[in-house]
Amino acid sequence: MTLDEKRAGACTLARPVFLIGFMGAGKTSVSRRLATTRGLTAVDADEYLEQREGRTIAQIFAQEGEEGFRAIEADVLRELAERRPACLVSCGGGAPLREGNRAAMRQAGFVVYLEVTAEEAAARIPNTESRPLFKNLETARDTIAARIPLYQEAADVTVRTVGRPVAEIADEVAEALARAGVLES
Ligand code: S3P
Repeated sequence: MTLDEKRAGACTLARPVFLIGFMGAGKTSVSRRLATTRGLTAVDADEYLEQREGRTIAQIFAQEGEEGFRAIEADVLRELAERRPACLVSCGGGAPLREGNRAAMRQAGFVVYLEVTAEEAAARIPNTESRPLFKNLETARDTIAARIPLYQEAADVTVRTVGRPVAEIADEVAEALARAGVLES
């Protein structure tokens, strides 16, 4: 590790940390907050995927369908799991759908599930057009209900987010990571 990577007061991660949960759960905001307050590196898996592919997620869905997108997503998760120093990875909401992804995340790292309701998610998402699978409140409710068992299966720890500010959620995540020996100062 270079001096730049280990700044004074900065923390490190013993393993990659995957933030999972439905769209609008706050995965990216919480991960960015942890990066700035704890001196960690955060990578947004969707942003990384769009850069790697040179296309937006909406374009990939339109050109290759959801299955095509899921195959690329699985590949990206494996790439990010292998990065060193280990980083915080905010995952797309559907990343835990594939059994192989759930196993890979748990095996390579530590998984934090951020819980959210469809109502709160809708209020937090400014532009649902960039999210091909966020159609309306009713389908969001059904999708969340169908995914909850998968999120729970993948999770090492679950954190409630409804009605809570990002800073408070990030602090709870940091405490859980420290307790698990994943966040080292
Ligand atoms: C998806 C969530 C999105 C993105 C894609 C599919 C999903 O990520 O990966 O639109 O299946 O829930 P965010 O959760 O970051 O919005």
